[in-house]
Amino acid sequence: LIKLFINGINGKMGTEVATLANSRDDIHLLGGYDKCLSQKNKYSVYNNYEEIFEKPDVIIDFSSPEATIELLNFAIDKKIPVVIATTGFNNEQKEFIIKCSKKIPIFHSSNMSFEINLMKNISSYLAENLKDAEIEIVETHHSRKKDAPSGTALMIAEAIQNSQNNSFHYNYDRFKNSQKRDPKEIGFSSIRGGNIVGEHTVIFFKENEVFEVTHKALSRNIFAEGAINAAEFILNKPCGYYTSQL
Ligand SMILES: NC(=O)c1ccc[n+]([C@@H]2O[C@H](COP(=O)([O-])OP(=O)(O)OC[C@H]3O[C@@H](n4cnc5c(N)ncnc54)[C@H](O)[C@@H]3O)[C@@H](O)[C@H]2O)c1
Repeated sequence: LIKLFINGINGKMGTEVATLANSRDDIHLLGGYDKCLSQKNKYSVYNNYEEIFEKPDVIIDFSSPEATIELLNFAIDKKIPVVIATTGFNNEQKEFIIKCSKKIPIFHSSNMSFEINLMKNISSYLAENLKDAEIEIVETHHSRKKDAPSGTALMIAEAIQNSQNNSFHYNYDRFKNSQKRDPKEIGFSSIRGGNIVGEHTVIFFKENEVFEVTHKALSRNIFAEGAINAAEFILNKPCGYYTSQL
């Protein structure tokens, strides 16, 4: 039985992971951590690490960058592997995560969906084969999302960069400089509204044709399943930084 703990358990994703964990016979949900305790939960929800006495086997984190950093200090102290699914980290926080992975196993991915990881590979493949294409990434999310562009859009761009010797640079804001498009940029557009779970399109513009790759997440369940798979994956791994690879 895997003893699971969820950071950000009262959020949309935390609730989704908790529901999935409770439906599995091989997982025992110990509870979770959240600054918001207003919900009536069937499991323990803490907002003070000092009060957590039973040691989880693994922690899944869908919270906020500040909450993840706080969690990592607890996880290192207790030697617990962590799956980080939270997005929006700054460079200093990313470096801290890498540093922590020397002391505990950490699985970190901005998108836990298997299909999005396929999309990363497909986009890299297209970038490699459509050398002179101009690349734009458009993403749409619900209006409560805080970070932009999405961690997934950045993850796809990074995969393209890695396959192309980092030859692109990123343009997050076309309003700042009134200039024509640089062929070696990857442009990002973020749309926010309604209840959209997550949509990503990578567009490759050529002179006489346009190639688009789109993924639409219709349920948060895909991320919850991916996070639980990742938790099972790192459970008995040595310390290190792990991420989604196909
Ligand atoms: N990797 C993926 O596949 C994936 C998929 C979906 C969402 N996400 C990311 O996961 C994160 C959470 O998404 P969500 O839609 O569940 O958001 P949400 O706002 O619904 O939930 C976040 C939860 O974390 C809690 N929290 C925030 N800061 C805290 C703090 N300092 N201390 C304690 N608790 C704190 C909030 O109270 C809330 O309950 C976001 O960063 C989002 O982008 C990742």
